Amino acid sequence: MYDFKIDAADKAEMYRDLALALKGLVASEPDGIANMANAAALIWETLPDLNWAGFYRNMGGELVLGPFQGRAACIRIPFGTGVCGAAAASRQVQRIDDVHAFPGHIACDAASASELVVPLIRDGELLGVLDLDSPSPARFSEEDEAGCVALGAILAKAI
Ligand code: SME
Repeated sequence: MYDFKIDAADKAEMYRDLALALKGLVASEPDGIANMANAAALIWETLPDLNWAGFYRNMGGELVLGPFQGRAACIRIPFGTGVCGAAAASRQVQRIDDVHAFPGHIACDAASASELVVPLIRDGELLGVLDLDSPSPARFSEEDEAGCVALGAILAKAI
């Protein structure tokens, strides 16, 4: 078992520690699914106020559910549909304060209020997305976005 002690008091420091822990966790493992599974667990354990943390993989132009923590979720999401599909189609981070106001939002869990989705791109190829959901509106700040983009950069090399 890995026991990471990450102090959540200072957000910038927490994201630095989280990135270091993630780097260490994936460093010697070539299997992408294993790395996504451990990354989802680490993020879930570290970031407060989430109700879902995990991955959708790009499987031939469609997003397919990958390793995650939280409640069972929608399995397939077309590019361009919902928040994850928007991130995949645009290759842009989606930081949504109120998912209910997002056109086409897919409510896998009615408890979700805000969402952060980071596209994972390696050598110009979209591998998938990292998706975080929260039951609190506007849970994700610019600092969370920057921290999770840094995690995405590590993950894009490890999946
Ligand atoms: N709400 C997402 C679907 C994925 S779940 O949140 C796990 C969306 O609209 O893309």
